[in-house]
Amino acid sequence: MKKIGVLTSGGDAPGMNAAVRAAVRCGIDRGMEVFGIKRGFEGLLDGEIVSMQWHSVGDILQRGGTILRTARSSRFMEDKWVEHGAKILEAFGIEGLVIIGGDGSFRGGAALAKKGVPVMGVPGTIDNDLGYTDYTIGFDTAVNTILGLITNIRDTSSSHERSTIIEVMGRRCGDLALHSVLSGGADVILVPEVKHDINEICRRVLEGQATGKAHSLIVMAEGFDMDSSELARTLEEMTGREARTVVPGYIQRGGSPTEKDRLLASVTAAKAVELLFDDSDSKAIGIYRGEVVTMDLEKALQVKAEFRRDLYELSNVLGKGK
Ligand code: F6P
Repeated sequence: MKKIGVLTSGGDAPGMNAAVRAAVRCGIDRGMEVFGIKRGFEGLLDGEIVSMQWHSVGDILQRGGTILRTARSSRFMEDKWVEHGAKILEAFGIEGLVIIGGDGSFRGGAALAKKGVPVMGVPGTIDNDLGYTDYTIGFDTAVNTILGLITNIRDTSSSHERSTIIEVMGRRCGDLALHSVLSGGADVILVPEVKHDINEICRRVLEGQATGKAHSLIVMAEGFDMDSSELARTLEEMTGREARTVVPGYIQRGGSPTEKDRLLASVTAAKAVELLFDDSDSKAIGIYRGEVVTMDLEKALQVKAEFRRDLYELSNVLGKGK
């Protein structure tokens, strides 16, 4: 393979730039021509494709976001547009793609692969919801951002003796909540993977209050089946303690990537380029027990993200009132 393209797609994640840098530089290092495709699949369909040089990706390793920009493409869900995308790639002479994104982006990639374009998926999403890999790029940075918020919120919640619900991202996956609670501490963790009833939530808060906790912290994943403002109102009624909600939203998606995310991005993107260079079939690249692993792209999409029930139980034990 002589000409390859790289794009970032879906929600951005800190570390995507490190992956773009590695893809471009590893490609050039192997004597390939590397093209940057702007705005994900949307840019592909509109032919927004530029030749990348070694220096094009200078000074981006430490930056959050993605210099290639990103988008969620509804057009690319239709076969006629996937066909169009394959034709655009052919017109540019691009023989294979590195796609940095989450499950939706991988699905787009798999559709493109069916049109004969080899696609390598590099896992870029703060949600950590791809089952074939232990971690996704951006997750570690997002967890560290949430940890900072928990620390700040704990101070003010204690001073005012309040309950605070922190609603973190994660539509279908509670990993951001889980890792933040394990490392940051909270009285209650609410994730889409585990059903809860309101009485149980209130009981935990009351137990904390009874043992003299000055605050109650509840970390809730956005995919949990309860509205955070409604939960706050119910908590106030049932516990007699003031309750507030904090929704950090996109703050969780920004910021300079951690070492862990930069490393993951660099090694997975480098592997993606190596596979394209070797004319491999389409693959998803990930990390498993510290080693870079690859899996057939379609198969990888079918692996269900496993929720770490053991870590969930542990966080519940550690967050208990005495
Ligand atoms: O997939 C990453 C993610 O940040 C989710 O956690 C969140 O639900 C979603 O993206 C938000 O997407 P958008 O940027 O389209 O609002």
